[in-house]
Amino acid sequence: MAGAPRHVLVRIYMIMSYKIGRNAPCWCGSNVKYKNCHEAFDAKLKRYRLLGHEVPGHNLLKTKDQIERIKESAIVNRACLDAVGEVICAGMSTEDIDRIVYETTTKMGAIPATLNYEGFPKSVCTSINEVVCHGIPSKDVILKDGDIINVDCSTILNGYFSDSSRMYMIGNVSEEKQKLVRVTKECCDLGLKEVKPWGHLGDIAQVINDHATKNGYSVVREIGGHGVGLEFHEDPWVSYVIKAGTGMLLVPGLMFTIEPMINMGTHAFNTSKVDGWTVTTADGKPSAQWEYQVVVTEDGVEMISW
Ligand code: MF3
Ligand code: CO
Repeated sequence: MAGAPRHVLVRIYMIMSYKIGRNAPCWCGSNVKYKNCHEAFDAKLKRYRLLGHEVPGHNLLKTKDQIERIKESAIVNRACLDAVGEVICAGMSTEDIDRIVYETTTKMGAIPATLNYEGFPKSVCTSINEVVCHGIPSKDVILKDGDIINVDCSTILNGYFSDSSRMYMIGNVSEEKQKLVRVTKECCDLGLKEVKPWGHLGDIAQVINDHATKNGYSVVREIGGHGVGLEFHEDPWVSYVIKAGTGMLLVPGLMFTIEPMINMGTHAFNTSKVDGWTVTTADGKPSAQWEYQVVVTEDGVEMISW
């Protein structure tokens, strides 16, 4: 073979390395040979890419093992929101909520992901009425009858991230605000139904945007969801205002949040110049948000946290 022309040697080398690759363990961590595991899947991804779709890289696709670990993190994440739901009421400060989240999280061996995240000073975000998101808990902010509040909790357990948020209604809430909270939840549930392999992120956005607009509401455009699991905020960035059939391809193992912010009035908002975090609606009208963490499965979706 030594005497063979260079182009023949190159060809032989390429065939050999291709075969070695196909018999090597699959990148997904299954310990199954690549050719019997994700080879056909990768070929499919490549076809989508060539057709112009935005296709996630392997780095965004969680393995079975990673998903199990992220679900353990999510047990803590949900426990925090359950604990808040047990006691939340008028007269409590948002710092009281922060303490519940901090204590529940640390007692279960986890770390609040927001604490010191890019300078965020607390263990949870608490966003009341016209606060769209990223409200900072404070002993001076007291919940009062008629408030609606989003509690957004993010958790790190053994290096794995979970993230979800819920709305709570304090005492006697106006019909108007109750409807906003309910419709926002419906938006998330409709979005959830759109999560299936070989669909697109835009399928989720479209049903959310349609349902919100049909009810006279608007969807925040510049702040959205995100990939999550191995980091707090991973690709893809998730918009809720793009069209069905556009945006990243939904592929088994892709994990992200469904967390639209729905405003009763305009979608425009301001970010506080005082604390650098608190986002409020430009017209002072209420805003609501629910957040689910989901993963695309072989035949649909699995909820990781909610
Ligand atoms: N938990 C928020 C989310 O859903 C992120 C909050 S970042 C913070 O993505 F720094 F404001 F806490
Ligand atoms: Co999130």
